Parts: sequence; structure tokens; C-alpha cells
Amino acid sequence: MWAKIRTLWGWMEGRRWMYAAAVGAILLSTVFMFLSPLVRKWAVDLLVSGQQAELPGFVRRTVAWLGGGDYVARNLWIAGLAIMATTALSGSLAFVKQRWSALASEQVVRSLRERLYGHIQDLSCRYHDQADTGDLVQRCSSDVETLRMFLAVSVVEVGRGVILLAIGVPLMVSIHPTMALASLWLMPLIIAYSVLFFVKVRNTFKASDEAEGRMTNVLEENLKGIRVVRAFARGEHECERFNVCNEDYRGRWYRVVKLLAYFWSVSDCMCMLQIASVMITGAYLMIAGRGQAGGLTAGGFFAFMTIVNMFMWPIRHLGRVLADFGKATVSLDRIQAILDERPEDRLADDPAEAFRAEGELVVDDLHFAYGDAAPVLKGVSFRAAPGETLALLGPSGSGKSALVNLLLRLYDYRAGSIRLDGREIADLDRRHVRRQFGTVLQEPFLYSKTVGENIRLGGRDATAEDVAEAASLACVQDAIEEFDKGYDTMVGERGVALSGGQRQRVALARALLADPPVLILDDALSAVDTQTEAMILEALRDRRGRRTTLLIAHRISTLMQADRILVMEDGRVVQSGTHDELIAAGGLYERLWKIQSSLEEALEREARPAETGKGAGVP
Ligand SMILES: Nc1ncnc2c1ncn2[C@@H]1O[C@H](COP(=O)(O)OP(=O)(O)OP(=O)(O)O)[C@@H](O)[C@H]1O
Ligand SMILES: [Mg+2]
Repeated sequence: MWAKIRTLWGWMEGRRWMYAAAVGAILLSTVFMFLSPLVRKWAVDLLVSGQQAELPGFVRRTVAWLGGGDYVARNLWIAGLAIMATTALSGSLAFVKQRWSALASEQVVRSLRERLYGHIQDLSCRYHDQADTGDLVQRCSSDVETLRMFLAVSVVEVGRGVILLAIGVPLMVSIHPTMALASLWLMPLIIAYSVLFFVKVRNTFKASDEAEGRMTNVLEENLKGIRVVRAFARGEHECERFNVCNEDYRGRWYRVVKLLAYFWSVSDCMCMLQIASVMITGAYLMIAGRGQAGGLTAGGFFAFMTIVNMFMWPIRHLGRVLADFGKATVSLDRIQAILDERPEDRLADDPAEAFRAEGELVVDDLHFAYGDAAPVLKGVSFRAAPGETLALLGPSGSGKSALVNLLLRLYDYRAGSIRLDGREIADLDRRHVRRQFGTVLQEPFLYSKTVGENIRLGGRDATAEDVAEAASLACVQDAIEEFDKGYDTMVGERGVALSGGQRQRVALARALLADPPVLILDDALSAVDTQTEAMILEALRDRRGRRTTLLIAHRISTLMQADRILVMEDGRVVQSGTHDELIAAGGLYERLWKIQSSLEEALEREARPAETGKGAGVP
């Protein structure tokens, strides 16, 4: 408990004075709030019995300043004005409190969000592999929102409750101890009831939240995969799935509403009972004790009726706030769990490390597995000279993309070494390493920005000409220029507006713009037609020697021009050499080549008669 309060206190750093200002405003507001019933008591007593009641020192001084008790008694409108003034002051200060607490909580939450987001950016791929994206999103949104509500409302409400009791109770006791007891005896019960109720229904609330989460999930999944849903004519099934979740959520929410209705009616009853107790005791004391010591004046009775009403709402609320603390601590834990997660190690920003590599890559006996899963790389070794184009071929799942992940230091290898220009990359800062590689990943991701901005991600200072040159190298320039808005065309959510091949080529342009010493294309041309692919490879070949290139593909026609081809199988490099050498050597490469070339031949054979037929039709 204390640890949590300390965490929260830590997060409030720099904004604590705002909370102090809010609590100060509550203090003043409460003082003015209590002044109003005191003035009423004084005025009523004066009217009913012609007596001027005892007043607290500073009120007495104020009355003297206004012309003395007798003068005010003759001009009762002054008392009326005083009541209005104190009420207005109290209300204005309540506004000030609201403003400061809102300002403070917004700022605390804003910096918390920033910290959380920054931290998530720095977490390793290993963490993101096992983390549930939906859950992460919920922690950054709903849980942060719960804390915001808590910081905006609950923290100051606790302050208000404490101040109210600290000022109100002695004041009531000083006016009339028996009446104070009659006004307060149910309060602990009301607080306890609220706390117990909200603690008990927490699980019901949680269940309803979770049901809502499930419903949102189904909706989100459906919207994301709307094309698949349509293509497989699963619309009806999806509607049913949604209806089940919707019904579940309705049921759980109904339960919450029912419980709340129950709570408020019982709580209302208790409050009524408290008010009744004040009325009955007050009436008895007024009538039975008239004129005697310990009797209650009409003004006193009136004051108690007002004060007990002032107490009711904040006290009922206090119970809820205390119960909310439980909910807030759950959110706090969930957020803290992310912040406690160790980020990717960062080495000191050593400017000497900010090198530009020549592009010599030596991989030696590399071993790797994702977490506790079976090994994916089982001793990969190869060397790429600066400027060399290496091709990587291998069956699906043989570990090609895993190798790329290790080169980029997205994951750390278990054993072996990767040296870039003779430096072990594990000893270099990840950012320096990543800057040496221009990468097009197997599933290229484009932002919901314009095409131009997506390409410019490769180099922020790039001019329009640089962007156009990169686009032309990637053979996507013509396609972009055909769009109405050219480079300013928005790429829809997840790049829907672009075709698969266009998306890959935009990603390629982005990698080329960065002009890195090492270029990695992980199956980056798979969705590009053979002719365009040949043009891209041709363009890259013209610049051969400028950068080391690692070309991963399944089509041998893509790879055969490379300086050297590595064949991977089951986490190992099983063959390496030029196209001709590998064909001569026989083995996996030759088998794949035979399959692919016989397929191509068959396709050509099929295409030929059609073409001849078409040709014959033309006179
Ligand atoms: N994040 C991950 N966590 C655990 N296992 C993974 C992860 N990513 C890939 N794998 C596993 O690692 C193995 C190698 O995958 P990898 O993506 O490197 O294959 P690949 O050679 O690139 O295949 P493809 O040609 O289909 O792209 C596969 O068996 C795959 O199931
Ligand atoms: Mg792959």
C-alpha cells in the first residue's frame, strides 16, 4: 500500500504544488462554506429570541467593522448579503480547486503517457513477441485513464473529506455536543457501507470491463479483417459472434446498474435516517430544553440542518473514493509492470562509435533460438566482402528472416559472432548498428502518411530530388506520379490504397534513400512482377560495388546474378557458390532450379499456343 502511494507520489513530481494549491482552495472553500450556516444561526436567533449569539473571534471583528451587532441586527439585509458572499466565495474557491486538480492530473498523466510510450519503444522484440498488443493498448489507454480520474477526483476528494471532518466536527461540537452526535453517528456507517460495497462490486465492475474489452476485440478484429470476412462469406458468423459478446456485455452491465441502484437507495435511506435523527433530536432539545442550559436555539437547529446536508454528499463520495483506490492500484500495478520491464541495453553515446561501415560482414558459427523454442539457427557462417551482393535462398522456415533479425540486433544471438568491419555488433550500440543497414522487411510496414513522407523516413534531410531518385531506383516513380496527388497521396491505414507490389517498392525506396553501407532485402520483391523485378535488380546492379547487399528470395531468377548464392536449410548454410557452380555441384539448389525452370517452361509452353492463336487471328 505505502509502496503504491510512494510510486504515485513519485509520478506527481513537479506538480505537487498544484495539488497543494487545490487542497488550499478546498480548505478556504470549506471555511466559507461553514460560515454561511453560522451567519444564518446568528440571524435566526436574533429574529426569534432577540439574542445575539456568541460568534467566533474573526466573525465578531467583521461584525464590528460593519457597524456593530446592533447595527447589523437593525439592517438584516447585511446578514443576507454576508450569506450570499460566503456562498459565492466558497463556490468560486471550489472552482479554483477543480481547475488546479484538473490541471495537475492532466499534466501528471501526460508525462506518464510520454514515459510509458517512450519505454515501450525501447523494449526488446523479445518482450513484444510475448506481449499481447491489445493488452498493451489497454494499459496505455484505459489504465492510464483510470489513474487520471483518480488523480483528478479522488486525491482531492480525500483532502476535502478530511478537511470537512477536521473543521466541521469541532464546529458542531462547539455549537451543541448532543446535536453533533445526532448529526454524525451514522457517518462512519455510511463510509463503511460505501467502502464495503465498492470493494465487493469491484469484481462485477471488472467483469463488465472485460466483457466490453472482448466485444471491442471482436469488433476490431472484424474491421481489420473485413476483406477476409467478406471473401469467406463469414459475415453472418461474425455477426453471431458479435451478438454473443454484445449480449454478455449487456448482461454484465445490467448487473452493475442493478447493484448501483441498490447501493444508492440504501445509501439514501441511511442519509434520510441521519437527517431524521437531527430533526427529532433537534426538535426535542428545542422544546424540552427551552431556556435551560443545554437547550437548543432555533438558529442552532437551523444551522445543524444545513451542516448535515453539507456533509452528506462528500461523505458518501468519500466511501466511493476509498473504494476507487483499489481500482486505481490495479491500474497502477499494470502500468508499473511495463515500466519495470528492462529496455534494450543502450551503450553510452560514444561519438567515436558513430562510424560509417565499409560493409564487410563476417558471420561465424551463429546460433540462435526464439526464447525457449527450438533452435532456429544452428551454426551459420559466411563472409560478405564490401560491395559484394550475396543471395540467400532456402525453404520457408529455414531461418533467413531470423538471420536478418540478428544482423539488425532486433534479437541477441546465443553463440557465435557477427562482425561488421571487424567489430562485433553485440559490442556496439544498437542504434549505430541499425544505421548501417537499409532494410526492407518481409512484411513492409507503411505509416498512414503520404507516400513522400513514408519514403523520407529513410533520410529526414532528403530533398525532393533525392526522394524521386530513390523512387525511380525502386521502379515505383511512375506509379506514384500516376496518383492524383503524386508524392502527397495518403497511404491508407496499413497502406491499403497501394497494391502489394507498390508497397514493397515504396519500402525499397525508403531503404535506398538512407544510402546505407549494407542493404538487406528480405523477400522484398516477392509481390513485384518479374519484369519490374528485373528492372529493379538491373538498377541495383548498376550501383554494384557501392554497397554490400543481402538479397533474400525464393525465385532463383532473382538471385542468379548475385556474386555468390548461399543456400540455407534447417538453420544452416548447406551450399554456397555462383549459380553455375551450384548447378554443377548438384544438391538442394539444383533441385530447386529444376523445379522452377520446368515450371517456367511449362508456363511458356502454355502461353505460346495462345499467342500464336492470337497472332493468327490478326490479318
Ligand atoms: N517471433 C518468433 N518467435 C518464435 N519463433 C519464431 C518467430 N519468428 C519466426 N519463428 C520461427 O523461426 C523459424 C524460422 O523462421 P524464419 O522467419 O527465419 O524463416 P524464413 O527462412 O525467413 O522463412 P520464409 O521464407 O517463409 O520467410 C520458423 O520455424 C518460425 O516458426
Ligand atoms: Mg522470412
